[in-house]
Amino acid sequence: MYKLETKLNVNSEEFKKNKESFLEILNTYKATLREVKKGGSPQAIQKHKERGKLLARERIDLLIDANTPFLELSPLAAYDSYDNQFPSAGIVTGIGVVHGKETLIIANDATVKGGSYMKESIKKHVRAQEIAMDNHLPCVYMVDSGGVFLPDQANVFPDKFHFGRFFYNQARLSAMGIPQLSIVMGSCTAGGAYVPAMSDETIIVKNQGTIFIGGPPLVKAATGEEVTAEELGGADVHTSISGVSDHLAENDSHAIQICRNIFETLRASDKQILELSSIEEPAYDPEELYGIAPMDLKKPVDSREIIMRMVDGSRFHEFKARYAPTIITGFANIMGYPVGIIANNGVLFSETSLKAAHFVELCSIRKIPLLFLQNITGFIVGKEYERGGIARNGAKLVHAVANANVPKFSVIFGGSFGAGNYAMAGRAYEPRLLFMWPNAKISVMGGEQAAGVLVQVKQEQLAARGKFMLKEDEDALRSSILKTYEKEGSAYFSTSRLWDDGIIDPIDTRKIIAMGIAASLNNKFPEPKFGVFRM
Ligand code: COA
Repeated sequence: MYKLETKLNVNSEEFKKNKESFLEILNTYKATLREVKKGGSPQAIQKHKERGKLLARERIDLLIDANTPFLELSPLAAYDSYDNQFPSAGIVTGIGVVHGKETLIIANDATVKGGSYMKESIKKHVRAQEIAMDNHLPCVYMVDSGGVFLPDQANVFPDKFHFGRFFYNQARLSAMGIPQLSIVMGSCTAGGAYVPAMSDETIIVKNQGTIFIGGPPLVKAATGEEVTAEELGGADVHTSISGVSDHLAENDSHAIQICRNIFETLRASDKQILELSSIEEPAYDPEELYGIAPMDLKKPVDSREIIMRMVDGSRFHEFKARYAPTIITGFANIMGYPVGIIANNGVLFSETSLKAAHFVELCSIRKIPLLFLQNITGFIVGKEYERGGIARNGAKLVHAVANANVPKFSVIFGGSFGAGNYAMAGRAYEPRLLFMWPNAKISVMGGEQAAGVLVQVKQEQLAARGKFMLKEDEDALRSSILKTYEKEGSAYFSTSRLWDDGIIDPIDTRKIIAMGIAASLNNKFPEPKFGVFRM
């Protein structure tokens, strides 16, 4: 592979200005993240600690192997919604290494509304289980939750991907041979009782963990029986009488140690073999990404400049370098793992789609994971292109991406608009992980285009009735659409709703993708199988 040569002048005013504006939004993002990661109110945190309990993130730190990273997912879920009453949606999820095994960890944050589940907490829990299923990762549930957040029951209880899905997933994961382990470190009420009850092996903390289908107030209301939480479903009851739990722990740290001991008994996973090379830092400084990350989406960015600051030795074996230049395709290594990269370099044309579809086939047959670097305004429009079959050719790429058998990873480093999002492995195309840079934007089309379309539709409607649109009405419609798109297109809006797995610092992209690939190797890649490509 050849080393890519930069054409960028890192001393230019343009570069420096971009870097300055980027660092501003990056610092805002980091400050927001720090604040959110504190968890619930200071009073709730104090109460939690006074009970001798560790905080959710402290519990995770103790569980994972020393000096290994924890890839936290969607920490800004529910951000800027519900008066920010649910930091991280009251649940911490992510991938960490336990006894050398990549593991999916789900930990309730009891300092946030008693760790109860509202809409985004549910989405986060189900998404984490989906990642475990795709990658065959053992799951550890650190349970400390009041169950359903009762005021939000309509968004939490009845639908296919609501609360009930947790236990369905646990049964399916267990049947796939994927270990399901629970540590009951606090309340585990009503439906929540099924998290430990559906686990392969369960630990409960003495005088702290409780498991019951109905808590003492409900029992009193239903039967008149008066009973304490401990008598009803405490650690002693469940480890010596009911058998709902398998191990008794003295405290949080002891429970975590028992969980680590259980990992020593797990079967080794049947790994996908990839040909690894030795790890090498990029030849160009990844911090230069701050000067390149598109702050103004109208300005074109040569995505090779991004690739060379992300891949080992900045080496890239470009495929079809001279053909369809609005997409860059090629092979590289990221922290030793081979990867096929597809990066936007302009609008998607027919030939662009064919080139990328061909590359997806190559990676599928060679069993090389795919990394999509998105900065896409969409497919080309216009008479000439429709006649040239852009819909048919675009569909070939969408088909190839949907059916690719290898793990896909997507990073939105600029814009992600229209069907370009689909062709570039947007959320609906099930990339194993999808991240956004803080400058990234996502919507069905750009705000200006959407405003233009809606003004035109309104004008035509009125014209058909012999009327016309007043300039001030047109301006009002345009500005309201622009405002909506500005707000709804931001990375914060996206990550709050779990349209992605988190916002990341560009310089972390490399190690995060490497962790994603490492995790994906726990599930062997199936043989490639495509359907009908419209020719
Ligand atoms: N729905 C909505 N809010 C809940 C909740 C639930 N299921 N469980 C707890 N909360 C809220 C409380 O209202 C309180 O909110 P606030 O901070 O705005 O005052 C906060 O969580 C902390 O609750 P609190 O009872 O003060 O904390 P605790 O640590 O002493 O007890 C629980 C935690 C979970 C044991 C206790 O709140 C409880 O029993 N909750 C109800 C559990 C239940 O019956 N769930 C059935 C749902 S399926």
